[in-house]
Amino acid sequence: MIIKVNKTIVSPSILAADYSDFKGAISQIDDSGAGWVHMDVMDGSFVPNITFGPELVRALRAKTKAILDIHLMIVRPGSFIRQFSEAGADNITFHYEAETHSQKYLTEIRNLGCKAGISLVPSTPCSVLEDILPYIDIALIMTVNPGFGGQSLIPECLKKVEKLAVMREKARLNFRISVDGGINEKTAKDAISAGADTLVMGSAFFGSSEKKELIANLQKL
Ligand code: DX5
Ligand code: ZN
Repeated sequence: MIIKVNKTIVSPSILAADYSDFKGAISQIDDSGAGWVHMDVMDGSFVPNITFGPELVRALRAKTKAILDIHLMIVRPGSFIRQFSEAGADNITFHYEAETHSQKYLTEIRNLGCKAGISLVPSTPCSVLEDILPYIDIALIMTVNPGFGGQSLIPECLKKVEKLAVMREKARLNFRISVDGGINEKTAKDAISAGADTLVMGSAFFGSSEKKELIANLQKL
């Protein structure tokens, strides 16, 4: 049985927002009561898509008090950590697959006053995190291959969430386990049962006409 150590948080992803109106997207997220804003930074190299960089983080920082939850899907993420921190990021998550010196950069993120996150694509086992667990504030388990919103969750990834939750319990730690990709009201329940406590949600959030109710229901899970 998975012991729940953290309250459920939903982090709506602006990847699914109207790109001509990020300010409007931020107000929608603020009004929903989610409290976090997930920002997917893609470089066209680590993933086959390009989005935005630190300047959008800075611009949105000025518009909201919400936690800015930055997900770096870029090569050499270590070289960009300071820029994102200075732009106003609260959480900085980078990919294990993109950075040889994970422990060093997790520590640097914390030293900059941010929460340190590390992410795994579906084909990377959670065992790679075993020796760096104490340096992690957020483990972001990709439940789709990163790059695009609107994909379906890969069920095997929830097995990884279960394994990681057991690793966390054994190590007596309380870092967040976040799931990202194909999360909707149904898959959110499965993810929470597997041990996740943080739900990144793009299409299902922006596609909902009852955002406040959606968030309240998910937060209760
Ligand atoms: C995918 C991104 C996700 C994306 C999720 O590469 O990391 O954060 O916004 O979108 P949905 O919820 O539509 O799968
Ligand atoms: Zn993401």
